[in-house]
Amino acid sequence: MKNKNEVLVTRKLPDAVEARLKRDYQARFNADDRLYDKSDILSKCDECDAILASPTDKFDADLLVDLPNSVRIIATFSVGYEHIDLDAARERNIIVTNTPDVLTAATADIAMLLLLGSARRAYEAEQILRSSQWRTWETTSMLGTQVTGKRLGILGMGRIGRSMAQRARGFEMEVHYHDRIRLTPDEEQGAIYHARGEDMLPHSDFLSIHCPATVETHHWLNHERIDQLPRGAIVINTARGTIVDDEALIAALNSGRLAAAGLDVYEGEPNINDDYRRIKNAMLLPHIGSATRETRDAMGFKCLENLDAYFSGQAPPNRVV
Ligand code: DGY
Repeated sequence: MKNKNEVLVTRKLPDAVEARLKRDYQARFNADDRLYDKSDILSKCDECDAILASPTDKFDADLLVDLPNSVRIIATFSVGYEHIDLDAARERNIIVTNTPDVLTAATADIAMLLLLGSARRAYEAEQILRSSQWRTWETTSMLGTQVTGKRLGILGMGRIGRSMAQRARGFEMEVHYHDRIRLTPDEEQGAIYHARGEDMLPHSDFLSIHCPATVETHHWLNHERIDQLPRGAIVINTARGTIVDDEALIAALNSGRLAAAGLDVYEGEPNINDDYRRIKNAMLLPHIGSATRETRDAMGFKCLENLDAYFSGQAPPNRVV
């Protein structure tokens, strides 16, 4: 009989989170923060009761089928869980939990940063300064898109979408949104609902993506839908890269059909479509939406809350399966 439950921790976690893991569990840490593949996970989780995973681990059906029977719960250090095959987890009676709420503000902040940065050409402007090309103040150079008073279309009005709407109101933007379910008038706070995402596009000077990656949203923003945006619109994506058809977005940025894009997530990241690197009118961040010290601690503590609840016989508060 073990006196502490054993947890495989697949990535290096914030110090405060690892300290609690060390105190309360028999944890198998990943001190080098090496990315584990299927065989690493299988070789390291023998006799483990739980896995504290991350979005960089792919828990597909193949891996889930082979996990030892001892593993009863996977707590992912992320709100997104598309890296875990939920049907296969259900099949194995493995509980899956995530970390909602605690990263809402940090992610909406990054979406707003990208919206402002791409509208005002922050990346290009900074390059001019850093490469000593700045000669003088000019009336007609580096002209961007005014944000104040513009229309923002939000695709996916969950926690992060709503938090983005709240920030946009501070910039006097007119908020439009699409989600499968309409919010209550209280929650809408004046935002204009579109029952179909396509119907929202012509009203979106800015489009900010906040929906989950699913089969239905795969490459949702394609050539046809980009063509429904106003000419010179700006696209922001802090949700998941697979929601955007990269080739369509890159073509629209290169042709000037879209004025700019602000991206934090990419299909196949970190191996992103190389053409992005050559585009000036895109502000590109390496998936840092939730990367604040406070948020990353809170995400770790949420994983622990779920594990603690499960191992003390309670329902984990953030169970997705
Ligand atoms: C998540 O939690 O799903 C994020 O993408 C990580 O920041």
